[in-house]
Amino acid sequence: MTIDPTISSSPASSTVGTKILSPAVPDAPYFIPLNTPAVGTELVDRTRAVGGPETKLFSPLTIRGVEFKNRLFVSPMCQYSSDNGHATDWHLVHIGSLAVRGAGAICMEATAVLSEGRSTPEDAGLWQDSQIEPLRRIVNFSHTQGTLIGIQLQHAGRKSSGVSMFAQNTGIGSGSQVAHVGIQGGWDEIYGASPIAQTEATATPKEASEEYLARVVQAFVDATRRAKEAGFDFIEIHGAHGYLLHSFNSPLSNIRTDRYGGSFENRIRLSLEIAKAVRTNWDGPLFYRVSGTDWAEGPERDERTGEWKQWGIQQTVALAGELAKIGVDLIDVSSGGLWADQRIRVGPGYQVPLAEAVKKAHPNLLVGTVGLLTTGRQAEGVLREGRADVIFAAREFLRDSSFVLRSAEELGVVVKSPAQYERAWTRMAHGHRAPKCPALEEKVVLCERDNLVGNR
Ligand SMILES: Cc1cc2nc3c(=O)[nH]c(=O)nc-3n(C[C@H](O)[C@H](O)[C@H](O)COP(=O)(O)O)c2cc1C
Repeated sequence: MTIDPTISSSPASSTVGTKILSPAVPDAPYFIPLNTPAVGTELVDRTRAVGGPETKLFSPLTIRGVEFKNRLFVSPMCQYSSDNGHATDWHLVHIGSLAVRGAGAICMEATAVLSEGRSTPEDAGLWQDSQIEPLRRIVNFSHTQGTLIGIQLQHAGRKSSGVSMFAQNTGIGSGSQVAHVGIQGGWDEIYGASPIAQTEATATPKEASEEYLARVVQAFVDATRRAKEAGFDFIEIHGAHGYLLHSFNSPLSNIRTDRYGGSFENRIRLSLEIAKAVRTNWDGPLFYRVSGTDWAEGPERDERTGEWKQWGIQQTVALAGELAKIGVDLIDVSSGGLWADQRIRVGPGYQVPLAEAVKKAHPNLLVGTVGLLTTGRQAEGVLREGRADVIFAAREFLRDSSFVLRSAEELGVVVKSPAQYERAWTRMAHGHRAPKCPALEEKVVLCERDNLVGNR
């Protein structure tokens, strides 16, 4: 029997009414309508037809032969919803709802490469093979929507074995940020660069031995292999927010006297070893998330003595250069998360200057920016001014999973909407533009409140 490739047949046993006429995603194990092009891809001719602009936000980006359909990416967001590190149907629905709405790419949450490297007992993990399959299901679904998906690999270092925000909110973790062994599913094997606790309420880590660091590097390699088996399109190494890699980079948390402490070269050694090891085992796009500053009081360096006092943008720029030499494709510039008394001046796009500094110093390196980028116009402005190449957004996607479609509408760009939801987006095809964003003052108030749950 010759089958029209645009007609798929249902697996149902009855032959009555089993022919499906709408184009289907090829190779999917069930019928699922095909979107051509993928949701979130600009329909350039239609944008021009309605007099819409040429934008950076909706221009595709190719990294190592992988084409990202637009430049508005979902930033990694812990869900504290994993079952002994395994993804569940929560993740399928949560990530799936973003995958069907046109994100340029989705970076899945911080995923521990070793069980003791989780920031809470409910964190995601990829330290054993049984964790591959539930992730593969999510990746496969995302691919049916033409949405690229990556994973953020991580070791939480001295911030391991913490209490998730949910548990704290329900009072289970009150008084301490450490998940106690036995009672709250916590563990004792908490390792950091040096035995310095982040706050009085957090654990004092054991100083990681060189043998342990070799284990961590190998764990990143093993998790990379698992990520490949799960079918991910890109990997991001989590080197930010005070977790293990950042805690080695910063002189505030690293007072070691061996080859992993002291000089800048020594402090960044672990970050480079891990990036090198992942790069050797992974051909696809490789991102690295860095904190651009610790936001501690005082200067980054004592100019008189030359001593580095905290992690800051000068060292970030230098680290980015080293990572680029290793073959890291994109630096995702966040900030903070290490110093308990960090002072962050929060406002729309407050971290963009950090990304911009990296971009200026390394024009050929791709740079992502994140933090209170909540409208299409704002995101487009950052890209158009050449301050970054990609926008990562987190909370705005939680508030509005259609952030990409809304941004397109706001900018007057026509993009493909999901076949199933097309009737909700017909006005986009007519060049509709949303009203202007709320007043800046209003936004800043919102931002300050938001920052309480930002870079943790
Ligand atoms: C619920 C939640 C979970 C987060 N989890 C992670 C994470 O797993 N990895 C990470 O690098 N950043 C994490 N972040 C930080 C975000 O990726 C992002 O950098 C930050 O929220 C600022 O961006 P936004 O203003 O768009 O929310 C998380 C943020 C939120 C709100």
